[in-house]
Amino acid sequence: MNKFYENLSIEIQELLEKDTDIIANLANVSACINYYLADINWVGFYILKEGQLVLAPFQGKPACTRIAIGDGVCGKAVADCKIMRIDNVHLFDGHIACDCDSNSEIVLPIYKNNAPYGVLDIDSPKFARFTQDDEDGLAKIADLISKFLMGATD
Ligand code: SME
Repeated sequence: MNKFYENLSIEIQELLEKDTDIIANLANVSACINYYLADINWVGFYILKEGQLVLAPFQGKPACTRIAIGDGVCGKAVADCKIMRIDNVHLFDGHIACDCDSNSEIVLPIYKNNAPYGVLDIDSPKFARFTQDDEDGLAKIADLISKFLMGATD
């Protein structure tokens, strides 16, 4: 993992240790990623509720509030339990456009006690904004969030 993500991970781990409230901590994580990551226009979470992804803490323009499992990049990440890194969202069949400025996107599944809990979603106005380095660094951050959730109650 590169130095940028090493430092960001340390900062996010410190934020996650400050409180036990899930929404408060996810709000701070989205603010932290928004502050440090260049060339992004949306970052936030969708949380699984009654079989749907529901909008949770984020930074950016207002977004769609509900996404079905399997729909869009977020729903596909949950359905397949895999990170989705999309260089050009306009070429992704079923992409849900919440902000028309978005051209590339990365979505990382988050787990609670090994069961799907939601996603971390980041959009960029730049095509191919997210590299393998970004994927590796953000996977580490998604992992820290999943570890925090393991001990959290909601
Ligand atoms: N583009 C996402 C929808 C969420 S917004 O990007 C905030 C998708 O296709 O699932």
